[in-house]
Amino acid sequence: MLIKPAHSLKGELKIPGDKSISHRSIMFGALAKGPTEVTHFLQGADCLSTISCFQKLGIEIENTPERILIHGKGLFGLHAPQCVLDAGNSGTTVRLISGILAGQPFSCTLTGDASIQKRPMKRIMTPLRQMGAEISGLNGTDCAPLSIRGSALHGIHYQSPVASAQVKSCVLLAGLYADGPVSVTEPSLSRNHTELMLSSFGAKLDCQNTTACIWPGPELSGQKIEVPGDISSAAYFIAAALLVPNSEVFIKNCGINPTRDGILRVAEAMHADIEKLNVHTISGEPVCDLLVKSSSLTGTVVEGSMIPSLIDEIPVIAVMAACASGTTIIRDAAELKVKESNRIETIVVNLKAMGADITATDDGMVIHGGKPLHYAVTDTHRDHRIAMAFSIAGLIAEGGTEIADADCVEISYPKFYHDLNSLYQL
Ligand code: S3P
Repeated sequence: MLIKPAHSLKGELKIPGDKSISHRSIMFGALAKGPTEVTHFLQGADCLSTISCFQKLGIEIENTPERILIHGKGLFGLHAPQCVLDAGNSGTTVRLISGILAGQPFSCTLTGDASIQKRPMKRIMTPLRQMGAEISGLNGTDCAPLSIRGSALHGIHYQSPVASAQVKSCVLLAGLYADGPVSVTEPSLSRNHTELMLSSFGAKLDCQNTTACIWPGPELSGQKIEVPGDISSAAYFIAAALLVPNSEVFIKNCGINPTRDGILRVAEAMHADIEKLNVHTISGEPVCDLLVKSSSLTGTVVEGSMIPSLIDEIPVIAVMAACASGTTIIRDAAELKVKESNRIETIVVNLKAMGADITATDDGMVIHGGKPLHYAVTDTHRDHRIAMAFSIAGLIAEGGTEIADADCVEISYPKFYHDLNSLYQL
C-alpha cells in the first residue's frame, strides 16, 4: 500500500469501537445469565477470534452489523470445545480466556498464529498455577499452544511484576471461580475496563490504587453495552492532524478513560492543539469528541506510571517525536518488546530508514526530532500498530511510504485506509 504525502487533512471521523472493551463484552456476556446486547462492537479480526472461541465453548452469539447478541449461560454454562481454540493474533483473547478456562470442569487446548506462539505466557501461568490451575505450554515452552485442565482454584494475592491489564484480567476472571477472594497488585495501574465492566455485570470487586480484588460467587447478569470509540485507533488521526500542515480533524466518540488517555497528556506536553468537547459517559466509560489542529510539536519525556496508559500508542508517539523540535525520551517501556512485534526494534528500524535520528535503548528509545523524513518501505512484521503508525509517517515523508502487509490493519481497524483517504484534501 503506497501512502502519499498529504498537504492538508480535513474532516470528521467516528472512531471504531474499543478493542479491549469489545473483547470483554463477549467474554463477560458469555459468563452472564441472559442476553447481553453490544452496539458499536469492533469488527476487527482480534475480536472476531474471541467470538469464535466462545462459540466453540457452546455460547450462541449473533453477529449482525447493528449489534452483537450474546446468549450467556452463566458462570458454569460453558461446554468443553470439540476442537482447539484459536485466538489468532490476539494476546487479549489468549490471556483472558486462560483465566476463565482454568476454573472450568473440562480441559482444552488454546493456540494462535505464529506471533501469538512467540509471546510470553509465563506471566499468566505463574499466578494461575499459584491458584491451583493446571496450565502448560504444549511445546515445552512458556508459550502457546497451551493446555489447560480445569481445576479447583484458590484465593490468592498476586503481586504482578508487570503492569499488564491482560495479566490482571486473567487473574480476576479466574477469581470468579476461586474458593476465596483474589487480588492483584501491579507496579502501576493498567487499563481498568475489566474492573469497571465486571462490576456492572454484578461481580463483587474492590479497587484501591494499583490493587484490584474480586470475590467469587455472585451470578453475573446480561447487560446492554455501547462500546466507546477506541483511543488507540483515534491516536493515528490525532497524530495525522497534528503533523500535516493546514489540518483540522474532528474525531467523534473517543474513549478517554484515564487509564488509556496518556497520548492526550503527551500531546499536551508537546504543545499540541487539541480541544476536548462534549465530554460524557457511555456504558460507564468517559468519552468525548476531539478537535485536533496542526501544531508545531516539541520534544518531551514519556516514562513511569504513564507508560501503561499509552503503551499501544508508542509507535505513533515516536512518529510525532521524530517530527517535533528537540529530543524525546521514551523509557520504562520494555513491554514494547513483547507486543505483536518487538516494537522497540520495529519502530527504530523503520523510522531510521525514513531518515529519523532515533536510537533504541533497553526500555525505550531516544529521538532527536526535526530531521525531514523521506520515502522508505515500512516493514510491519504484520504488526497492525506499526502499519498504521508508519502510514501517518508517510503523510509527512517526502515521497510517502510503502506499507508492506498493509492488510494487517484488519486486526484492530479494518476501515483504517478508508478513513484516512476520506481526510485527504486535494
Ligand atoms: C490490553 C492490554 C494491553 C494492550 C493490549 C490490550 C487489554 O496489553 O497492549 O493491546 O485489552 O487488556 P498488556 O496487558 O500486555 O499490557
